[in-house]
Amino acid sequence: ARLVVLASGGGSNLAALLAAHDDPAYGARVVGVVSDKPGAGALDLAREAGVASVVVAPADFADRAAWNEGVAEAAAVFRPDWVVLAGFMRILAPSFLGRFPGRVINTHPALLPSFPGAHGVRDALAYGVRQTGCTVHVVDNGVDTGPIIAQAAVPVLDDDDESSLHERIKVAERSLLVETVGRVAREGLTVEGRRTRIG
Ligand code: GRF
Repeated sequence: ARLVVLASGGGSNLAALLAAHDDPAYGARVVGVVSDKPGAGALDLAREAGVASVVVAPADFADRAAWNEGVAEAAAVFRPDWVVLAGFMRILAPSFLGRFPGRVINTHPALLPSFPGAHGVRDALAYGVRQTGCTVHVVDNGVDTGPIIAQAAVPVLDDDDESSLHERIKVAERSLLVETVGRVAREGLTVEGRRTRIG
């Protein structure tokens, strides 16, 4: 299967997918990386891995709708079977999802539906939960509200700050994302209402 990865940051989730995709048994290859940030570390990772990458920066577009169209066009060029949001920090419009219906997967560093949005790690820490984690889900028109595919729990330690907790979450998140994307790519995904089933 062909994967296009959208990333805004350092790209540790992308790095994990790139490490996995070299194995022919994985059943999926990252064929393109799209970022909204010109200097994103994810772009360096793509280059090092010999994977095509493209920057679609909001500043280069007249408005949000045009930017969304630009991101969709950039992703569509790679003919993806699945679009994976791996540390992509912008909300994509329904028009984007319309280009890849039921085929956009996101990873979020909290146990949804708890702590959605851009500060899930900070919010979990502030709330005082003893267990948080990460969620891989299908992207729908809401923010972190789509049907859940897989989750992994991560303990919160007494001396955690946002950074130490996020680093611990990212260890679990990377492996959950690689495992889940691989299984979905090889076996397919069935979504019935809010329930999902791989295979
Ligand atoms: C990940 O935890 C992702 O879930 C969140 O931001 C982090 C990005 O990490 N949205 P990276 O860019 O993949 O290293």
